[in-house]
Amino acid sequence: MRKILLATAICALAFGVTSAKAEDPIVLKFSHVVAPNTPKGKGADKFKELAEKYTKGKVKVEVYPNSSLYKDKEELEALQLGAVQMLAPSMAKFGPMGVKEFEVYDIPYIVPNRAALKAVNEGPVGQKLLKLLEPRGIIGLAFWDNGFKQMSANKPLRKPEDYKGLKFRIQSSKVIDAQFRALGAIPQVMAFSEVYQALQTGVVDGQENTPSNMYTQKFDEVQKYTTLTSHGYIGYALIVNKKFWEGLPAGIRTQLTKAVKEATEYSNEISRKENEEALEAMQKNGKTQFIKLTSAEDAAMRKAMAPVADEVAKRVGKSLIDDFRKAAGGATH
Ligand code: LMR
Repeated sequence: MRKILLATAICALAFGVTSAKAEDPIVLKFSHVVAPNTPKGKGADKFKELAEKYTKGKVKVEVYPNSSLYKDKEELEALQLGAVQMLAPSMAKFGPMGVKEFEVYDIPYIVPNRAALKAVNEGPVGQKLLKLLEPRGIIGLAFWDNGFKQMSANKPLRKPEDYKGLKFRIQSSKVIDAQFRALGAIPQVMAFSEVYQALQTGVVDGQENTPSNMYTQKFDEVQKYTTLTSHGYIGYALIVNKKFWEGLPAGIRTQLTKAVKEATEYSNEISRKENEEALEAMQKNGKTQFIKLTSAEDAAMRKAMAPVADEVAKRVGKSLIDDFRKAAGGATH
């Protein structure tokens, strides 16, 4: 179905099929892969509300949640083709389109806290990363927050040895691949929409994600144990098709920029609470058993994953990692 949609969109673009009349609203399609009741889902809905309000209906925003239009890799292709106009993929998803630098955010324990993240994203590091998208026909508008990743599997995960030989679903990031290999596990790239079934049927043994993503996709129902590792971070770059954005009447673009700014503030404000509430809800559900690491276990996990940063340095450049850590205040998570 998605392939047909994409093919239709490509044909429409190639043959210049358009039925727009002057009074028709400009349609902005915003596709994403998570549930509506997540920081990103709520941010997208807030953007729709504000964009339509500020443009007095001249722009109509259609939000497609839960991979209902495109899955992870397809949505980036669709954006570049102009079949959708706006996305907010996680940093881990930019590698396959050739912008591997975003994977710096996937280095284990590199994001010490949300305050440091703000300094990184709003400072030169974040802005430099967004600029890297332009040659790909994409404009980076903002960073949206989700939260810290926890590990889950059908067996208790306390020490690095517990990961040995287990298959873990990962996002399409070479850094996350290296992270699981450092633990002796077998990483497997898979679209977000396929994870629940893969866990349920045993195609993979475990996964890592934020409490909000785990709860809204019901991963807790198909994973016996969740370990509170907070070893990594998931956040997003809010991006638009460059041709679409630059082709907008200037007044409309200004109004949409205002909507982006306010939706960003809103999404980043609710992200912590959304994750705390999702964690509490899963604890109440009692389907997955939560494990808290002792400080010795936490130290062992950090030690096992420490070499990942050196491996990443070869991929994204040591100076980017150094600049990131410096902007984050040198704090450790
Ligand atoms: C994932 O694929 O696990 C996440 O990136 C999904 C998302 O967009 O939060």
